[in-house]
Amino acid sequence: MKPIGPLMWEHRLIERMIALLGAELSSIAETGKIDDHFLDDVIDFFRTYADRCHHGKEEDILFRELGTKPLLAEHKAIMDGLIEDHVLARNTIERLCVARQRYMAHQGSLNDVTDCIEIIIQLYPEHIEKEDKHFFFPSLQYLSPREQDAMLAEFREFNSKLIHEIYEKVIKAREGKLE
Ligand SMILES: [Fe+2]
Ligand SMILES: [Fe+2]
Repeated sequence: MKPIGPLMWEHRLIERMIALLGAELSSIAETGKIDDHFLDDVIDFFRTYADRCHHGKEEDILFRELGTKPLLAEHKAIMDGLIEDHVLARNTIERLCVARQRYMAHQGSLNDVTDCIEIIIQLYPEHIEKEDKHFFFPSLQYLSPREQDAMLAEFREFNSKLIHEIYEKVIKAREGKLE
């Protein structure tokens, strides 16, 4: 298997969340209310799965390796754009978290929440298309079969450590509150 395989499977799950988020946006437009529990899941999904698990493997492993290669200018430009997209996605989810808290506390507007959702719904499908159709396959030309196998193994190791990292962080944050 190529290392881009697992990344592309992960895109399919992110697309399913984007579809759910689109339905939530329509529901907000109709009812003027947000599904707070769903937004909780949305924020967790984008922080943990999309950003830490998925962007984590792209940035910390794939892009790191590609950064050591003599990339063509067009591929370097796409990679830089992808990293900017990750930053925008990450910042927008943090803005959504704040907007949602403010809205629930009757201190912020519904528009602040829907603005963030609209950015996410537009950003991810475009970002995924850039990676799936214009970057992942060309990126393989820079990696030997041995490097690709090593990358796949590193992806697996990254995934296996993730759940431990996440729950250790939960415990440390809680312990910090007790100090
Ligand atoms: Fe990405
Ligand atoms: Fe991706």
